[in-house]
Amino acid sequence: MARSKIALIGAGQIGGTLALLAGLKELGDIVLFDIVDGVPQGKALDIAEAAPVEGFDAAIAGTSSYASIEGADVVIVTAGVPRKPGMSRDDLLGINLKVMEQVGAGIAKYAPNAFVICITNPLDAMVWALQKFSGLPASKVVGMAGVLDSARFRYFLAEEFKVSVEDVTAFVLGGHGDTMVPLTRYSTVAGIPLTDLVKMGWIEAARLEEIVQRTRDGGAEIVNLLKTGSAFYAPAASAIAMAESYLRDKRRVLPCAAYLDGQYGIKGRYVGVPVVIGAAGVERIIEIDLDKAERAMFDKSVAAVEGLVEACTKIAPALA
Ligand code: APR
Repeated sequence: MARSKIALIGAGQIGGTLALLAGLKELGDIVLFDIVDGVPQGKALDIAEAAPVEGFDAAIAGTSSYASIEGADVVIVTAGVPRKPGMSRDDLLGINLKVMEQVGAGIAKYAPNAFVICITNPLDAMVWALQKFSGLPASKVVGMAGVLDSARFRYFLAEEFKVSVEDVTAFVLGGHGDTMVPLTRYSTVAGIPLTDLVKMGWIEAARLEEIVQRTRDGGAEIVNLLKTGSAFYAPAASAIAMAESYLRDKRRVLPCAAYLDGQYGIKGRYVGVPVVIGAAGVERIIEIDLDKAERAMFDKSVAAVEGLVEACTKIAPALA
């Protein structure tokens, strides 16, 4: 059977890590695309030279031509620019929207059957724009945020409780960052909800709230440490988990920015919710009951997404 093909649009910090992880996991052949000539080619060659040492088989190519992504089964998009000091939110939106337009056209032309995972920020708006620009079915275009946010939450909880990260599950809804909605009653240690662990005396409610807040600020914590750039290992690992679930039809239940068509009372927007990812892409959107406080946080998150989408349609009226 032919190997799957994974196209990575953007060969920066996350793109390079995605390529290495996809190789190590033998997910398929890899094409690294970037507009900066030499970078995708150099990273591809460097990773290919690691293959004999690590013992994985994958063809890894670097390119600046969209034609090379032809027939990709999975496309992961990190192309774009980060927000720099002095740049307004709308400046950033304007630049990255243009990038999504180019990337969407490239995918539409060369990889219309792919499962597309968007990572470029501001995520909930960029994935929405990418789906529109590419014209791919909404079930085949998702955004990566929730897997990363819940991974951070899981790591912090595992550290706190001194248990394996494997036994901590976490549930996070809504947008990335400030408006993230961590659901403590659906987050567990080996099936025991965090709310029960508070009752059992494992953790004080106030300490749990601190961990929730640290999770919300997880991206900023890394930016402050790195000073030049943002997180890339965990974001890449998170997107690879989503790609793997699609390629291997694992049907994992993962929180992703998914297109809502009436679920949670929302239509035509991308919002972080739990979904099942299998061979058909987003096979199911899981609608859980939210209590009053959770619903209020979720609504706040949706309002933030709405604000970004409105700003996008002002910049690019064709998207409306
Ligand atoms: N087409 C293709 N690639 C592009 C384009 C474009 N139009 N514009 C920029 N790029 C490339 C850049 O050349 C760079 O190599 O996108 C890459 C982005 O890489 P980094 O700047 O290293 O950013 P990274 O840390 O990988 O994050 C990528 O993910 O988490 C988000 O906020 C983050 O939006 C950012 C994205």
